[in-house]
Amino acid sequence: MDFYILFLLLPLFNIPISSSTTSDTLRQGSSLSVKRAETDHLVSANGDFMAGFFPVGENAFSFAIWFTKSSVPTLVWMANRDQPANGRGSKLILTENGNLVLLDAGRVQLWSTATTPGSAVKLQLEDTGNLVLRSSEFGKHVTYWESFKSPTDTLLPNQNLTMNADLVSSKSRTNYSSGYYNFYFDDDNILRLRFQGPDPLVSSVYWPSPWLGPFETGRFTYNNTKNAMLNSIGGFASSDNLVFSSSDYGAKVNRRLTLDPDGNLRLYSFNAKNKMWDVSWQAISLPCSIHGICGPNSFCSYHQASGRSCSCGAGFKMKNTSDWAFGCEPEFPWNFTQETGFLRVPSSEFYGYDKGFSENLTLRECEEQCSKFPDCKGFQFQMGDVDNKASRCYTKALLLNGARTPNFPGDVYVRLPKANLSSFRKNHKEITFDCSPTKSMRLERTYKKSNENGGLKVLVWVAVALAGVEFVCVAVVLGFLYWTRKENKTESQGYKLAAATRVQHFTYAELRKATLGFRDEIGSGGGGNVYKGVLSDGRVAAIKQLREPNGGEAEFLAEVSTIGRLNHMNLIEMWGYCAEGKHRLLVYEYMEHGSLADNLLSSNDVVLDWEKRFAIAMGTSKGLAYLHEECLEWVLHCDVKPQNILLDSNYHPKVADFGLSKLQNRGESHNSSFSRIRGTRGYMAPEWVYNLPITAKVDVYSYGIVALELVTGRKPTGVQMNGTGETVEQGRLVTWVREKMNGAATRTESWIEEIADPMTQLGEIDKVKMELLVKVALQCVEEDKEARPTMRQVVEMLQFHEDERAMVFS
Ligand SMILES: *[C@@H]1O[C@H](CO)[C@@H](O)[C@H](O)[C@H]1NC(C)=O
Ligand SMILES: *[C@@H]1O[C@H](CO)[C@@H](O)[C@H](O)[C@H]1NC(C)=O
Ligand SMILES: *[C@@H]1O[C@H](CO)[C@@H](O)[C@H](O)[C@H]1NC(C)=O
Ligand SMILES: *[C@@H]1O[C@H](CO)[C@@H](O)[C@H](O)[C@H]1NC(C)=O
Ligand SMILES: *[C@@H]1O[C@H](CO)[C@@H](O)[C@H](O)[C@H]1NC(C)=O
Ligand SMILES: *[C@@H]1O[C@H](CO)[C@@H](O)[C@H](O)[C@H]1NC(C)=O
Ligand SMILES: *[C@@H]1O[C@H](CO)[C@@H](O)[C@H](O)[C@H]1NC(C)=O
Repeated sequence: MDFYILFLLLPLFNIPISSSTTSDTLRQGSSLSVKRAETDHLVSANGDFMAGFFPVGENAFSFAIWFTKSSVPTLVWMANRDQPANGRGSKLILTENGNLVLLDAGRVQLWSTATTPGSAVKLQLEDTGNLVLRSSEFGKHVTYWESFKSPTDTLLPNQNLTMNADLVSSKSRTNYSSGYYNFYFDDDNILRLRFQGPDPLVSSVYWPSPWLGPFETGRFTYNNTKNAMLNSIGGFASSDNLVFSSSDYGAKVNRRLTLDPDGNLRLYSFNAKNKMWDVSWQAISLPCSIHGICGPNSFCSYHQASGRSCSCGAGFKMKNTSDWAFGCEPEFPWNFTQETGFLRVPSSEFYGYDKGFSENLTLRECEEQCSKFPDCKGFQFQMGDVDNKASRCYTKALLLNGARTPNFPGDVYVRLPKANLSSFRKNHKEITFDCSPTKSMRLERTYKKSNENGGLKVLVWVAVALAGVEFVCVAVVLGFLYWTRKENKTESQGYKLAAATRVQHFTYAELRKATLGFRDEIGSGGGGNVYKGVLSDGRVAAIKQLREPNGGEAEFLAEVSTIGRLNHMNLIEMWGYCAEGKHRLLVYEYMEHGSLADNLLSSNDVVLDWEKRFAIAMGTSKGLAYLHEECLEWVLHCDVKPQNILLDSNYHPKVADFGLSKLQNRGESHNSSFSRIRGTRGYMAPEWVYNLPITAKVDVYSYGIVALELVTGRKPTGVQMNGTGETVEQGRLVTWVREKMNGAATRTESWIEEIADPMTQLGEIDKVKMELLVKVALQCVEEDKEARPTMRQVVEMLQFHEDERAMVFS
């Protein structure tokens, strides 16, 4: 009892046994107290890191190490993430025999280093962020314990990741307890990312892609060192041959490799200017490909503007309304003994857990494959496409890792009792929630009541002591509540900004050097000239110098960050930018085969064959659909034309120059920034001319013209050269194609051969495909924008070319 009182009173009267400290060292017999969490810190000599009690919830603290220079403290390590300490009376003590112990109020031991080196040790926070318990005797270099050996979710430079030290993500951005994702050395010596959900039976590896072998991912299975490290200039190397470097490789800045709560592994570089962390590398670019993110029986979808969200399908409801990790559960008994039906969820998939897989089945046959087994929960059906001619049918034993992506080439058919099918469909409201719960919970006090059998004197003392503690606590808790609030807000903004600036910053001098003084001009467009250059890391880049940059640096950066966030195989990738004085430059990946316009020129010696032309039309539509839909019509291109469709070494198309026209918010079609006509003659929708509201349909129109140009090889308007070098006047391309098509009935030869580009081999033309493309293109160029399909519908129509049955079904 006496001891208990002493324990309460010591901090209150600040008896010097507790070190109130700004030093980097904690001596034997001293302690840090949660009560003075704001001042009781260890601070590394360079001031970068602090160790102390960190508030993790209301009245809940963890002993942690954090980086101090960011606008909000960045946690890099935690001793007791799963068992926070009470905000009253908890202490970290370095005992006389050299054990480092975290005691909760009520003297429960929450954590310890379990070291007993005896005398002469000290606890020191090093400049690297490593907290080390070592011998304090001069000349004796014994380390008994260090925080670097037991990481939580973050690896700092020069910290070893080893076999026994995984990274485990936090639950959410506000709940630091152990989450569902691991970064670890697997039994075969390979570094992997794994999801381990709340259901112990459900776990799966999602990185590197599980369907690729070690050879295909460049990993090496036979080095059992199991050691990996991030070095101080941004290079990561592992014993399994995983090697990557940050986008600012070489620079001496603070970095951290963190397994984020969303299951993505990201390398962050500290930006001292805005005190934020920029993402300088990440393992996964498609957020919904991370397993388990929305729990079982649910769908993950991702929108650039709003981020990732989860939803339940018709007939399902969210299982635990406070945590998506539990996913959805069916509203019907899940044993299909009664008659069943299927509900189509377009452009979606469930990864893994197949009962069976078959090729070349029709949709009906695939459905039968599922219906005949009572435990089949649905199936995924993929039409054949350009690359993979056979259709694919996957029947599902479990519905896990679900994702909806506008461009995904397959559909999911969820099995439901036939009796409920129509009512489920009717009542289904697509509700989506943010994946991460953000509520913070209050930790119940674990204070033991004082022994009531004790004498009066004792009770009085306890009462006085408690009152004192209460007062101090209120102040501290208020202070921290303020801090935590502020943190939550800025943290999320900081994260968005960081994620946004995946793109690298270049100086003007660097880019001048890369282009040898802007020598090799490879194109020029509305915005400015484009030069070929070689960056200091050897990457070949296309560098665009904006001619009349309008707006200030802030607006420029805002646009750059939007463009930088867009990420699709059919969009040109932006690597970086430069904003210096009056200079505004954008750095893009370099495309070997130049623009589609170059390739359609009759003087070009390599003629695009029909298969490539169709693939270019397909890819371009996917890129534009991504701009329009994933971004909620946020980004209109407004200048779709062959000059802005670039071809890589395999002639895969990538749309360029998107986002350069002012970004547009949905519903603000009359935005004054659109008063000026954009686009290029011949490709411009009538809305521009008649001053009608500008929507995504202007891009659809331009796309239609490009598709017609692909098929015919003719420019949309004006005078041009024919094959023999003489110039011929042509009417509008659209009118001409329509006339040819409508006149087809009266002639014997195929109208498609008549309009096809004379430069190509007619023999190899796939008439069915080309007819489809022309018909879709003609829909796209309807004068009335309502009559035009959306870009997404264009993708679907072109995708379904192989199998007419699918069109009938959907
Ligand atoms: C990390 O591992 C390497 C090689 O195993 C070793 O040389 C180095 O001392 C270790 N670093 C730390 C900080 O433990
Ligand atoms: C295994 O990896 C370590 C680095 O972690 C390296 O030093 C060693 O040479 C590698 N061994 C083999 C056999 O490749
Ligand atoms: C829902 O999830 C929360 C947070 O993970 C958990 O504490 C709670 O017990 C769960 N509720 C149910 C009904 O499973
Ligand atoms: C479905 O399964 C449950 C238990 O698993 C059983 O009680 C029920 O009778 C089954 N329903 C039908 C229609 O077979
Ligand atoms: C599917 O059909 C394609 C072409 O029709 C054929 O090449 C392929 O071998 C077939 N696959 C199977 C598994 O039957
Ligand atoms: C499903 O249909 C059956 C038969 O019509 C009905 O009894 C049951 O209530 C329905 N279930 C739900 C969840 O609507
Ligand atoms: C964090 O999540 C865990 C597990 O769901 C839960 O038990 C705990 O109360 C949460 N902590 C806070 C501070 O919200």
